Amino acid sequence: MEKIPFNKFNEFYLDHTKEISEKLMFILESGKYLRDKETLQLEKEIAKLCKRNFAVSTSSCTDALYFALITAGIKPQDEVILPTFSYISTLTAILKCGAVPVFVDIDKHTLTLKTEGIEKFFTEKTRAIVFVQLFGHITDLRNLKETCNQNNIILIEDSAQAIGASFEGFSGASFGDISCISFDPTKLVSAYATGGIAVTDNEDYYKTLLKIIHHGRNEEGNFEILGFNSKISELSAFMINMQLSQLDNTISKMQRIANTYIGQLSKIKEVEIILPEPSCRSTWHKFVILAQNRNQLREYLLKKGIETRIHYNPLLHEHLLLKNYNYKITELSQAEKLKNEVLSLPIYPGLKSEEINYICENIKNFYTL
Ligand SMILES: Cc1ncc(COP(=O)(O)O)c(C=O)c1O
Repeated sequence: MEKIPFNKFNEFYLDHTKEISEKLMFILESGKYLRDKETLQLEKEIAKLCKRNFAVSTSSCTDALYFALITAGIKPQDEVILPTFSYISTLTAILKCGAVPVFVDIDKHTLTLKTEGIEKFFTEKTRAIVFVQLFGHITDLRNLKETCNQNNIILIEDSAQAIGASFEGFSGASFGDISCISFDPTKLVSAYATGGIAVTDNEDYYKTLLKIIHHGRNEEGNFEILGFNSKISELSAFMINMQLSQLDNTISKMQRIANTYIGQLSKIKEVEIILPEPSCRSTWHKFVILAQNRNQLREYLLKKGIETRIHYNPLLHEHLLLKNYNYKITELSQAEKLKNEVLSLPIYPGLKSEEINYICENIKNFYTL
């Protein structure tokens, strides 16, 4: 068996080389590289997919999260609640605002922010919660949204990994006052570069986001607020649009792969699979298991040519950059435990059945050694 990489970023391109090359050439020749047809189509399609009124594309989801917080009025010393189990951008967006991150524990089944009893962390300074949707699954945030509304707290949804997922009529990125999606090369829909988008139903937020991505410029051409230069290129927007047109098919492939994994791995008692809620149509952006003797299993798989990753360890509150910032820690025992058990297995649309079988066989073999 050939080596099995953790991901294959060029699969979509290799499957559509001719069509993509022709269109990219056309865009290059047109001389129109920013906020033209492809970008506007992308914003329209994403708003439709997420069932939101507005979408504003950015250079990355990292930017989108930061812009979302500024747009929602987060100021220095405000407290922002977040799970300690996420990618670094969730944290840095908060720090860049000068706000104080309040790290909260995760749910042991979904690995997302533990929302039950979240009110006990509210103080008079709490202004926002950043909820992170993980692994292509969606957690229902209707109750959390209600709690936020009652307490005048903004809900930002880090939906970096949630594009295309759905849940009882809701789509990925549909719960936040502003929700942010990533198109980085690891994602199911990729910019083939960095790329992100913020979606919202609030027209004022939309107008502010549009200014922020373009140096703070208003419609009259005046630089009205402090802004940034954060855009997606027409080339990337085209790549995203093309993948969006085939998203259903891609998700079906991911679901078939996940089901094959589930069928085989659920028989191994040392392994627990992080599953979506039964009514969620996950995209399986990541296939994550909790594994006994995780580090040894990982080494064993690597020796067999199988690449895996760990999402996430260290936890956010353990990163060195925090020594320069104010922050608050709460009881984090689940995250502390699970960071030593999580293991992400290879998953991408072209992963073959025999490769999945080989991975699962080797996991079984490891535990029967
Ligand atoms: C949960 C989460 N938040 C934020 C980001 C940042 O996205 P980007 O790379 O587009 O800035 C990522 C990207 O991996 C992510 O997984």
